[in-house]
Amino acid sequence: MGTEARIEQLRALREQALNAGNQRAVARQHEQGKMTARERIEALLDKGSFQEIDQFVRHQTVGFGMEDKRPYGDAVVTGHGTIEGRPVFVFAEDFTVFGGSLGKVVADKICKVMDLALETGTPVIGLKDSGGARIQEGVASLDGYGRIFERNVRASGVIPQISVIMGPCAGGAVYSPALTDFVFQVDQTSHMFITGPDVIKTVTGEEVTMEELGGAMTHASKSGVTHFVYPDGKEALEAVRYLMSFLPQNNMEMAPYYPTADRPDRIDDELDAVIPDSASQPYDMKDVIETILDEGEFFEIHEHWAQNIVIGLGRLNGHCVGVVANQPAVLAGTLDIAASEKAARFVRFCDAFNIPLLTFVDVPGFLPGVDQEHGGIIRHGAKLLYAFCEATVPRITVITRKAYGGAYLVMNARGIRADLVFAWPSAEIAVMGAQGAVNIIHRRDIEDDPDPESKRAELIADYEKRFNNPYVAAELGLVDEVIEPRETRVKLIRAMEVLRNKRETLPPKKHGNGPQ
Ligand code: HXC
Repeated sequence: MGTEARIEQLRALREQALNAGNQRAVARQHEQGKMTARERIEALLDKGSFQEIDQFVRHQTVGFGMEDKRPYGDAVVTGHGTIEGRPVFVFAEDFTVFGGSLGKVVADKICKVMDLALETGTPVIGLKDSGGARIQEGVASLDGYGRIFERNVRASGVIPQISVIMGPCAGGAVYSPALTDFVFQVDQTSHMFITGPDVIKTVTGEEVTMEELGGAMTHASKSGVTHFVYPDGKEALEAVRYLMSFLPQNNMEMAPYYPTADRPDRIDDELDAVIPDSASQPYDMKDVIETILDEGEFFEIHEHWAQNIVIGLGRLNGHCVGVVANQPAVLAGTLDIAASEKAARFVRFCDAFNIPLLTFVDVPGFLPGVDQEHGGIIRHGAKLLYAFCEATVPRITVITRKAYGGAYLVMNARGIRADLVFAWPSAEIAVMGAQGAVNIIHRRDIEDDPDPESKRAELIADYEKRFNNPYVAAELGLVDEVIEPRETRVKLIRAMEVLRNKRETLPPKKHGNGPQ
């Protein structure tokens, strides 16, 4: 065969590989409002940047008629490309080939790009749409999942790993996305669960739809498995591109710097009016965050889950920061199990990837309740404490209003080694609120007084005068500077500048044993 004929042969084989899924399956995919694996990769990466790997891989399975069906590339498309010019590795499960199911060679292909991503310090993005373990391959496919999980863990904290659930993702297969840093789900067309509605009905008698059990909004608002929900695949992939703009390539690099026209010395008069006159009145902490960050740009993470705490990414004078903030508008900003878990994982992500942490505090305490205690608020709250204590990135705290008790400490206080702590004049830093405190330390005085109610009011006023301010903490050096709210952006940018070269290492150890 001459060279030209050989080139023709290659082209024909490529054509076959590009159309591995049969027409009917592709049409069905489109009817369901889903893109094919290749269309998704096109939408995710910079135009024309995709370089495919293992296009001609085929399975070796015999039995069940499999030997007659050996499409090139099998049920996953893998390779690399760029997002805004920066390299990423990608794998996209192809539901039009054997329902995207994972057999030995599918796992081999995924493992190959994961290995390359880890060796080269390049993020890896997985687009998931699969019927799970390939039934015809039995334990070989289970082993494939094992090999992927192990790589997910090995790469954790070294390269960003992102999962986008764009179809079914069931059984043990869900653990790969769960191990990655961020999970995106497409509304209505993606589902994640360990056991499906039919098995649940048989075992527990509960009746539940796929959507209620494992749809995007369920995981985004109830289980916390999913960080981001988008109405369709295109928007989800656009959002992945946006998320990548905040992230470094790996744990040895810094997040990209984006020059901004927003002045570093901008004064925000409106912040002086944010805190309501009454201490029990809420306000929206997101307004504060957006006012301070560059160009009001804040990419919120886990927007629908544990809304009493707000986490997300933004920039200060062009440099990426991770924001953790109590939200007084939800559950009065108390910390509960979900809020602690949500913030803890994010703090660890930021610390792993050299993203400085900016914490806004307005927390009356932990959420009281038997459910919370029996659910393990002690160990879940400890996760957030552990995460902050362990973080060696620059850590800055702004106390806007309440900072009470253990929650004050957990929210990155000086005592757990925050680098710089600012407080607004409205800050109230104390062991507990005035009412509770007076009832404990003055119980006798109140009981013995001929007019207990006026005595109580007088003692509360006295306590408030003494502790409901930032100056006791400032006297002790636990607050570095009391600032006017309007100058918060300026102060934070200067603080971040001076902390940029912070170098701190923890004592050598194999790893800690935090309350996971
Ligand atoms: C082999 C599979 C498959 C699988 C789907 N297909 N899942 N082939 N192994 N696991 C094939 C179908 O036979 C069909 O082939 C094609 O993919 C499309 O599937 P449909 O059923 O026609 O599609 P749909 O109606 O959209 O339903 C999708 C589905 C369903 C809900 C995912 O296919 C399904 O329930 N699949 C089985 C899911 C499952 O139980 N997987 C094992 C889970 S346990 P043809 O040739 O007809 O087009 C698991 C453990 C992981 O994954 C372990 C990790 C530790």
